[in-house]
Amino acid sequence: MLVSAKEMLQKAKAGHYAVGQFNINNLEWTKAILATAQECNSPVILGVSEGAGKYMTGYKTVASMVKAMLEEMNITVPVALHLDHGSYEGCLKCVEAGFSSIMFDGSHYPIEENVAKTKELVGIVKEHGMSLEAEVGSIGGEEDGVIGRGECADPQECKMVADLGIDFLAAGIGNIHGKYPENWEGLSFETLDAIQKLTKEMPLVLHGGTGIPDDMIKKAIDLGVAKINVNTECQLSFAAATRKYIEAGKDLEGKGFDPRKLLKPGTDAIAATVKEKMELFGSVGKAE
Ligand code: 13P
Repeated sequence: MLVSAKEMLQKAKAGHYAVGQFNINNLEWTKAILATAQECNSPVILGVSEGAGKYMTGYKTVASMVKAMLEEMNITVPVALHLDHGSYEGCLKCVEAGFSSIMFDGSHYPIEENVAKTKELVGIVKEHGMSLEAEVGSIGGEEDGVIGRGECADPQECKMVADLGIDFLAAGIGNIHGKYPENWEGLSFETLDAIQKLTKEMPLVLHGGTGIPDDMIKKAIDLGVAKINVNTECQLSFAAATRKYIEAGKDLEGKGFDPRKLLKPGTDAIAATVKEKMELFGSVGKAE
């Protein structure tokens, strides 16, 4: 059964570890992530961008597929199905489709409008026992064709949004989606520290988990980050393993062209990346 991400993230924050959000694109990715979470006895969040939702024919398909997979795969660790960077309309669709968690990304609106829309969604998700993530300060880089410049959130604005009754907060601290440029200045721990001092128990979310050095990840967890999003790194490991398989001519041997065989090296690589991240984030063995 899907669960809201509220409780798992409160536990993570109190226990000084983070739960990984891994984005899904299809059945194979979902299967690899769920199997790894079960093997690691770790809670996990499956992230679905609006683009990935469309690709999989719609949120209802995604919710039905994931719920059925939990049952068929005998998954017993806590799993949340979460809309990633949702629009207001996208959030409403995911509530209807049976997701267990949503992110409303109102960071591109003036703060007053972000606050008003987030507040409306707080009421709606509470009625459905779901969790809500809000965002303050845009997270840079490119995701699904949307390009933003990394910026640091205003800690006072973070407090204002945290006080609306959301369950976890994504705040820009210089992080960006995708690969970090050579001249990246690193995470702003000063901003993170100021945000955590004002928002206290609120679990904080670090987007753009790909390419952040391990010591920065650990420091961010020490300063209140309880959810870390990883997408690009799974895509890169999938692509590299698939390329290696094809370049070695394996797809021409025997029944290598069989889609199940063709996708296996890539999905095995995703599983390895997810395991590595769960170990780094400290969530292994934390499922109850
Ligand atoms: P990366 O693609 O940089 O790992 O970021 C993922 C993310 O933040 C999804 O919201």
